[in-house]
Amino acid sequence: MSTQAPHNTLLIPGPIEFDDAVLQSMAHYAESHVAPGFVKVFGETLTLTRKLFQSTSPSAQPFLIAGSGTLGWDLVSANLVEKGENALVLNTGYFGDSFGQCLQTYGANVTQLRTPVGERHSLEQVEQALREKKYKVLTITHVDTSTGVLGDIKGVTQLVRRVSPDTLVVVDGVCSVGSEEIKFDEWDLDVVVTASQKAIGCPPGLSIVYTSGRAINVAQTRQSPPGAYYASIANWLPIMQNYENNKPSYFATPPTQLIHALHTTLSQITARPISERFDIHTQVSNKVKAAVAELGLKQVASNPDAQAHGMTAMYLPEGLTPPDVLPGLLKRGVIFAAGLHKEIATKYIRFGHMGVSVTDPGRNDVDKALAALKEALSEAKQAKGL
Ligand SMILES: Cc1ncc(COP(=O)(O)O)c(C=O)c1O
Repeated sequence: MSTQAPHNTLLIPGPIEFDDAVLQSMAHYAESHVAPGFVKVFGETLTLTRKLFQSTSPSAQPFLIAGSGTLGWDLVSANLVEKGENALVLNTGYFGDSFGQCLQTYGANVTQLRTPVGERHSLEQVEQALREKKYKVLTITHVDTSTGVLGDIKGVTQLVRRVSPDTLVVVDGVCSVGSEEIKFDEWDLDVVVTASQKAIGCPPGLSIVYTSGRAINVAQTRQSPPGAYYASIANWLPIMQNYENNKPSYFATPPTQLIHALHTTLSQITARPISERFDIHTQVSNKVKAAVAELGLKQVASNPDAQAHGMTAMYLPEGLTPPDVLPGLLKRGVIFAAGLHKEIATKYIRFGHMGVSVTDPGRNDVDKALAALKEALSEAKQAKGL
C-alpha cells in the first residue's frame, strides 16, 4: 500500500509518479552539504549515475546540479561551443527548437535540420549535412517529448565518428534516460543531458549531465572563457570530482534532499540488470501502442522503429481536441498531457508510461489509463455526435 495521499495518477511524459521510498528520502532531516554523511551520499550518487549510463570509463564525468533539464543545454552551450562555431541540431520537435535557441543565446551558429512532424532523420540526410560544414557539436534529441519520436543516437554517433570525428555528439536524453537503452562508452557519446523528473523517477529539480573525457577536454582548452558562471564546467568539475572522492567541496549549494532522493531511485534502478528495465519499458510500450491502434488512433511517431518506449503521442479522432478528452480521463483518475508541437497541438494527446507506473507490479496505472482512455474517447465522441 502506498503511503502517499490519494491522488489522480500522473501519466504525462514527466514529471511521473514516485516510489514511496524515493519520496520519503525528500523528508531527510537538515544536514550540512559538507558534512561527512551527505558527502558520502553525494559521492555514491555520482558513482550510481555512471552505472545508469552503463559507463566505466574513468575519463567520463557525471554532473549533478540544482536546476532542471534545461540547465544541461546551458552547460553544453556555454562550455563546448565558442561564439561563431557551428552547431547542427537534429530537430524532431519542440525540444530541438529550444535547444537551438539556447545554443544561439551563447553565440553558436545553429543549423536546424528538421524532419516532417513524426519522423526522424535518415542517416543519409545527416551525412549530407555533416559534409557541408565543419560542426563543433551535433545535438540529437533521444526522445522528443512533443512527438514521441525516438532518435537513432547509436547510428548517428557511428556516422559522426566516420564522417566528422571531432564533432561532439550531444544527446538530449531528458525524456529517455531510464526508459531507453543508452551505452555511453560503447556508443562513444560525448554528452547526455537529462533531468531527475522523468524515467529516473525523482522529483524535479536536478540537472544530470554525463560527459566524455573528450567533451571535458574541449571545455578545458577553449579559447574564450565559458559563457556562464553557474553553468561553468570549470566551476563544477572539481566539486564533482571531490565529492566522488569523498571530500567536501563548495561552489554552490547542492539540493541535499533531492540528492538523497536520486540516491534512492538510482539504487533501486541499478539493483537489477538495467537491460531488464529497458525490456519492461518496451513490453509495456508495445502493449500501449497496440491498444491505441485498437482504438483506431494513429501515433504521431509514424515509423515503429522511431517510437519512444516511455511515452505515446496519439492523434485524436477527427473532430476532437484535447479539451474534449482530457477532462474525461481526469474524471477517471488519470492525467495525460495535451499536445505540444505547435503544428499539431490541437490534434493529439500524450501518455507517459515510465518508471514505477511500468516497473512496479503492485500498480495498475497503465491498465487503468487504457480503460479510462477507451471510455473518455467514446464519451467525447458521443457528446460531439461523432
Ligand atoms: C526532451 C526534453 N528536453 C529538454 C526538456 C527540458 O527539461 P526541463 O523542463 O526539466 O527544463 C524537456 C522537458 O520536458 C524535454 O522533454
